[in-house]
Amino acid sequence: MSVDQTLVTARHFDYVDAHTVPEDAFLKKLRSDAVTAGIPAISIGPSQASFLQILLRVVRAQVVIDVGTLAGYSAISMARALPQGGVVMTLELNPKHAEFARQRIAESDVKDKVVVYVGPAVTTLKTFGSDSADAAFLDADKGGYPVYLEECLRIVRKGGLILVDNAFAFGELFAETPRDPETPAVRAFNELMARERRLQSVIVPLGDGCWVGVKL
Ligand code: SAH
Ligand code: DHB
Ligand code: MG
Repeated sequence: MSVDQTLVTARHFDYVDAHTVPEDAFLKKLRSDAVTAGIPAISIGPSQASFLQILLRVVRAQVVIDVGTLAGYSAISMARALPQGGVVMTLELNPKHAEFARQRIAESDVKDKVVVYVGPAVTTLKTFGSDSADAAFLDADKGGYPVYLEECLRIVRKGGLILVDNAFAFGELFAETPRDPETPAVRAFNELMARERRLQSVIVPLGDGCWVGVKL
C-alpha cells in the first residue's frame, strides 16, 4: 500500500511556525516573565495555540477545561477563541504557578473568561458535572492522563473535543533509554488512546505531538 506522505523535517516545522500568526506582545512577555520567575518553559507554542483555537471555534466551544495551567499560556490562548460568556476552567496543582497565572489572567483581555482552580486536577475534575464542557486540553502530569481522560469522557459532551499534549514524550517517544521519568507514562497513554472507542482520535504532529479526539 502506498500513501501520500511527506517526511516532515525540522525545516517544515520552522516553515509552519513562520506561517502562523506570531504571538502578541502580551503572551511573549508572559512567556519570558515566567522563565524569570523560575517557571519551566514548557508552555505550548504559537502554532499549537492557533490550532487549539481553530478546533474550539469549529465546535463552537463555550466551556473548556485546561488541565495544567502553568503560567496561563494555554488558558489565555483558548479563552480568546470563545464567544462572550465562554469560560476556560484551568486546573493547577502548584500554588506558585497558579498565582503567577492568576495575575497575568487578571491583566489580560480574557480576564472574565478564565477561572483558575488550585489543587490536584482529579479532585477538581470530580466536581464538574457530566456533559458540562465542550472541550478539554490535558497537559499536566503524564501519569495522571488515564484518570483525566476518564473524567473528561464524562464531562465533555458528545461531539466535544479531548485534546492531549505531549504524545511525542518530549521528543523521547522512541528513545531506548529515556531520561524523562514521564516517558513510559506517555507511551502507555498513547496505547490507551489508540484503543479508546468512545473517541475518534489522531495524533497531530504539532509541537510535541497533540492528540485530537472527538467524543462519539
Ligand atoms: N498547559 C500549559 C502548560 C502546562 S505544564 C500551557 O501550555 O501553557 C504542566 C502543569 O501541570 C505544571 O504547571 C504542573 O505544576 C501542573 N501539574 C502537575 N501535576 C498536576 C496535578 N496533579 N494537578 C494539576 N496540575 C498539575
Ligand atoms: C514537560 C511537560 C510538558 O507538558 C511539555 O509540554 C513539555 C515538557 C516536562 O515535564 O518536561
Ligand atoms: Mg505539554
